[in-house]
Amino acid sequence: MSSQFLRVDRDGAVATVTIDRPERLNALDTGAVAELGRAFAELGRDDEIRAVVLTGAGEKAFVAGADISELAELDAPGAERYAAAGQGLMWSIENLGKPVVAAIGGYALGGGLELALACTVRWAAAEAKLGLPETNLGLIPGFGGTQRLPRLVGRGRALEMILGGKPIGADEALAWGLVTRVLPREELLDAVQAFAAKLAARSGMALRSALKAVGEGSNMTLDASMRLEAALFGVTCASADAAEGCQAFLEKRDAEFRHR
Ligand code: HXC
Repeated sequence: MSSQFLRVDRDGAVATVTIDRPERLNALDTGAVAELGRAFAELGRDDEIRAVVLTGAGEKAFVAGADISELAELDAPGAERYAAAGQGLMWSIENLGKPVVAAIGGYALGGGLELALACTVRWAAAEAKLGLPETNLGLIPGFGGTQRLPRLVGRGRALEMILGGKPIGADEALAWGLVTRVLPREELLDAVQAFAAKLAARSGMALRSALKAVGEGSNMTLDASMRLEAALFGVTCASADAAEGCQAFLEKRDAEFRHR
């Protein structure tokens, strides 16, 4: 499953999606957004794939944003549709039901950072630069950045990044919780793929429920989210994987999950 600006490589239960347009620092044009949407829809349906790695080709960038040459051409209704299409992609990544780990090797700017924000976990290379520079262009983020970034790093830091437009480095991103690990660039992709493989070996059923509890719960009142958590706990507790996981613990052996 590969296309013009996208490579999808499979290794066991892990798929690596590489945005492959390094001569434009992997900037996302309309075609790339649509290709990513199709790729993630397919990976979501594929029961053999239980974790996804998302990265950008080349040394310099994860994704340097939406393609500015396209943005310059848009009128108001066209721009709204464009933002909605990008937001749809981010929603489908966030709600894939499987972990998606971003390997950020370089620039993650604008729509590129917004793409990373939709992922479950973000690891970065020491050289990475992360930012929402849209206001430098007289724009605002439109792929979810104004909403996901403050939820992740807090309103003050998010507004500093959005209004100031200045990217931050990997160490600052780590201190702010925007990424959870910083590694030398040459080690990053292997380390992220190894982490994804570990996640893929865990109960897919449990991971799906945990993702749902955290994802959907964060849009609810505390009372409603507690009810959701209890309901999901009930479903997972009655699963074959929970029976196997608990039995394996009691028998002092490794669990063999069947992801249901
Ligand atoms: C189109 C881009 C691009 C982008 C880089 N390129 N980013 N093309 N859209 N977002 C192109 C450059 O024009 C150049 O093409 C080539 O990639 C290499 O980039 P350089 O600028 O020469 O590299 P460098 O000097 O190293 O600078 C790297 C950079 C800079 C700091 C990342 O490229 C940059 O500032 N890019 C724009 C970042 C940005 O503003 N992103 C937010 C976009 S708005 P040529 O043909 O000259 O070789 C956005 C909105 C999302 O994302 C929401 C929409 C609803």
